[in-house]
Amino acid sequence: MKIFLDTANIQHIKEAASLGLVDGVTTNPTLIAREQGQFEDIVRQICELVHGPVSAEVVSTDAAGMVEEAKKLARIHDNVVVKVPMIKEGVKAIWELAEIGIRTNCTLVFSSNQALLAAKAGATFVSPFIGRLDDAGHIGMDVVREILTIYDNYGYDTEVIVASVRHPLHVVESALAGADIVTIPYDVFEKMFKHPFTDKGLAAFLADWEKTKGR
Ligand code: E4P
Repeated sequence: MKIFLDTANIQHIKEAASLGLVDGVTTNPTLIAREQGQFEDIVRQICELVHGPVSAEVVSTDAAGMVEEAKKLARIHDNVVVKVPMIKEGVKAIWELAEIGIRTNCTLVFSSNQALLAAKAGATFVSPFIGRLDDAGHIGMDVVREILTIYDNYGYDTEVIVASVRHPLHVVESALAGADIVTIPYDVFEKMFKHPFTDKGLAAFLADWEKTKGR
């Protein structure tokens, strides 16, 4: 399973990339707004740090505007993937962008029907938001499992990015479901390394090793 970081924070991306574990990055207008600097500069810097897809989102709500924005974003760097919202005009833009070879990530997906339409339009990636579904009392991962089955049934190439991840268990569930990608906030990425028995076990090994000094 590929791991993307769900952040626009350069320092966090640098740290995670230095571990060789980052296959891509997803951003959105909210994540960009948390950082200093100009949108296109941030996207360019991220693309130079990561050897994989970097999602940057359009803010137009009509297909023509989205396509125009997408063309500008795609010119920033070859790694750029254009994030397009799951609305009718977005689906139209995804289809037009697929025709001219610009990769898209259909975002704000909350149902398997939406994911089916995105794949039919030619989206490169689809992002079901599982945390927000969980927040609303649904089981977000059920939607991911449905999408994976539907894509498998019909041989769609669209890759599923599990998004709106809230905790490490979401990552485990994504891997068990066979999702192509999970996009992870940096705090969740850090938590994935942790287990109290690892810390306790290492402390005991190091303390016992000290006892052998001077032999
Ligand atoms: C993914 O592409 C989105 O940017 C992100 O996962 C949304 O997560 P949130 O629900 O925590 O805002």
